[in-house]
Amino acid sequence: MVESELVGQSAAMRDVRKLIDIAAPTKTTILVQGETGTGKELVARSIHKLSGRKGDLVSINCSAIPAELLESELFGYEKGAFTGAEKMRQGRFEMASGGTLFLDEIGDMPLPLQAKLLRAIENHAVQRVGGGKDIPIDLRLVCATHQNIESDIDAGKFRADLFYRINVFPIKLPNLAERSVDIPKIILELKKLIKKQLDCGPLPDFDDSAIQEFSRYPWPGNVRELRNLVERACLLFPGKVVSGKQVQDHLLRLKAPDPVAEQDALWEATADLAGTTSASTDDIESAPLPHPAHYKDWFAYFDSIDLRRHLQDVEIVLIEAALEKSNGMVSLAADSLKLRRTTLIEKMKKFLIQKTIV
Ligand SMILES: Nc1ncnc2c1ncn2[C@@H]1O[C@H](COP(=O)(O)OP(=O)(O)OP(=O)(O)O)[C@@H](O)[C@H]1O
Ligand SMILES: [Mg+2]
Repeated sequence: MVESELVGQSAAMRDVRKLIDIAAPTKTTILVQGETGTGKELVARSIHKLSGRKGDLVSINCSAIPAELLESELFGYEKGAFTGAEKMRQGRFEMASGGTLFLDEIGDMPLPLQAKLLRAIENHAVQRVGGGKDIPIDLRLVCATHQNIESDIDAGKFRADLFYRINVFPIKLPNLAERSVDIPKIILELKKLIKKQLDCGPLPDFDDSAIQEFSRYPWPGNVRELRNLVERACLLFPGKVVSGKQVQDHLLRLKAPDPVAEQDALWEATADLAGTTSASTDDIESAPLPHPAHYKDWFAYFDSIDLRRHLQDVEIVLIEAALEKSNGMVSLAADSLKLRRTTLIEKMKKFLIQKTIV
């Protein structure tokens, strides 16, 4: 499999690599934390590569496997342990013996299984489902999570004793927006990877204005989002130099698909409603906002409405308008929307809204 290297010259990424170098050759348990797409799996791979351990890197994503199956996936089962268990099967712990076990999204491990996991880590041994004897394993464990496990502990969803057992050597990956100086190097690495994987034509380059756009962007999907964007650029601009404007128009802002007729009609209807409302005597503070009661009338025009999408569209328009009025000052915009600043920032991230409105 083609893999990228963990690149980046930022102080944060240099620290991450230093920690990997220190911990990889030992058998210490590592907990990799970071938001989605920050490179947690890549870190696990680097740790395994640098560990010098002879066995395989065996990965399991705890959130992707139904709770009922997770136990036998992790610990294996004996013949006859349950209906359908026609022969013995090893679990991932056993398969990883002598190598590295990567427990991805460990925050999603169901509570009842956490006790069994703790026992396996403490005893360096597992018991297969339906089996009574301990099977010793040469264990090297790397765990990852995008969640704040401490708050899961407070909420009673994660065992504190297990957390202290896995949080021996934490490695925290910063969000891409906090290390935007790394973007040019990461792009180079991603281009190499994409070239190999897609076997595509000549690769594009990005000029300074494009890199500037990238530095301003909040990257909610982190490096994975950057990877997707570079891949899109490879297809849209093969062999070309991509400008900031092209990044804005074609790559960054995930534009809504071409307005469907229904959506247009919906907005027209909103305009009508705004008109009626301003003339009405309802006790609405400032005109021309449509009064919520008028939304009822929409079903006179439409059989259905994508409510979530429409409400999001309204939120985006109002947030952008507030930011424009406050010249991009988030606190002011938050005040005018009667939102907390942090809530507004969350929404801006979610809807990919930038501070500078042009
Ligand atoms: N520092 C980096 N340098 C180069 N490529 C990177 C870097 N970090 C991540 N990548 C690439 O970004 C993509 C996402 O990384 P990865 O799958 O490791 O993230 P993740 O944190 O495990 O994401 P998720 O939480 O969604 O599982 C991969 O293609 C990976 O190769
Ligand atoms: Mg991952």
